[in-house]
Amino acid sequence: MSSTANIQFCVQAGGKLQGEHRVAGDKSISHRALMLGALAEGTTEVTGFLEGEDTLCTLAAFQAMGVNISRPAATQVIVHGVGLHGLQAPKQELYLGNSGTSMRLLSGLLAGQAFDCTLTGDSSLSRRPMKRVSQPLALMGARIDSTETGTPPLHIHGGQNLQGITYAMPIASAQVKSSLLLAGLYAQGTTCVIEPAPTRDHTERMLTGFGYPVQRDGQKACLQGGGKLTASAIDVPVDISSAAFFMVGASIAEGSDVLLRHVGINPTRTGIIDILRLMGANLEILNAHEVGGEPVADIRIRASRLRGIHIPEALVPLAIDEFPVLFVAAACAEGETVLTGAEELRVKESDRIQVMADGLNTLGINAKPTPDGMIIQGGQLRSGTIDSHGDHRIAMAFTIAALRAQGEILINDCANVATSFPNFVSIAQTAGIGLETKTV
Ligand code: S3P
Repeated sequence: MSSTANIQFCVQAGGKLQGEHRVAGDKSISHRALMLGALAEGTTEVTGFLEGEDTLCTLAAFQAMGVNISRPAATQVIVHGVGLHGLQAPKQELYLGNSGTSMRLLSGLLAGQAFDCTLTGDSSLSRRPMKRVSQPLALMGARIDSTETGTPPLHIHGGQNLQGITYAMPIASAQVKSSLLLAGLYAQGTTCVIEPAPTRDHTERMLTGFGYPVQRDGQKACLQGGGKLTASAIDVPVDISSAAFFMVGASIAEGSDVLLRHVGINPTRTGIIDILRLMGANLEILNAHEVGGEPVADIRIRASRLRGIHIPEALVPLAIDEFPVLFVAAACAEGETVLTGAEELRVKESDRIQVMADGLNTLGINAKPTPDGMIIQGGQLRSGTIDSHGDHRIAMAFTIAALRAQGEILINDCANVATSFPNFVSIAQTAGIGLETKTV
């Protein structure tokens, strides 16, 4: 649940990043571990779980549907699976906080249940587009009501007979793909999703790990309804989207040298590494190995001089959550950085193109928003006060910006950092950022 208290970040200018750090667990994989664990037969033990507000919303939703889930430790979760047909009708609507992943993936999963339910969210989630899932799910036979503009709350009618479809997604979205594949578990026949560009494939990998066959052929993923999931232990890697803040921080702050441990480097998520390398960053991938079907590695980052680039559009879906902090990298780079093909950023937890451009402008950077991206001239960051608009990644991106600012940066509305990275403040402090928080 997103907190109503406004937390302000007060970040001293300057500093450098050092040390070895294991940052937060992967949000996408943590959500999926709960979902597939709940639908599996047997007990799934999840280690390295992200205890963020978003994933805790998914956890609470399954508890409300009768799934026994215990947490022997903060990052350890035991899910007692109820099987594909074992969920019970929740007594109340399911509140999903700030979490688009929970709402979109659950829409597909719940479309195949025998009972009705209603999904709600906070003010940000209540503005986000859901037709991208409700329309293709309707083609499968689902009945989902939303507001007229297609935003939450969503009311999902149970008891529908779903049919497999082949759906070519108009946008590259792992949430849409996953939603349809989860509905496909309950559909008659085959459900296939074709993506216009590769997006994160954690759902396909984890389904396979749970013994559910997924056929993958280029940009197409298919599964047959009516199978079963078998519980499997999940070791969640560190979230590369959380590690990204420290990758950029170490790159831009002179004298930095950090080692980030056990980071997920699934090739559908490594756009941040490719983009930073194109900008001249000094990143080393060490000790690469596979853990439970997901590649992980330690990443060493040392400071370097970054240069502006035109970001290849093919990398956009592979770095979709990293643009707030990449814009900070661009502001610290020499020359111009141009991003195109990223209109999706306008419908994330905030309009990340407008909100980041406004914040960078406040700090004296020439950043021009465009309909599908931004043009940023590298320059000198000044001191200033930023509104994060309750968006966790905006708040963390401007914390990193302070490493290269001339004076203190104040960031308002930071409580939602806890949605994806609950110990961001302590890790940032340990790594060398002069960050204090104030409840206002
Ligand atoms: C996610 C997919 C991405 C990403 C989001 C998590 C997922 O969204 O932005 O934070 O877990 O599937 P889209 O698939 O809508 O791009």
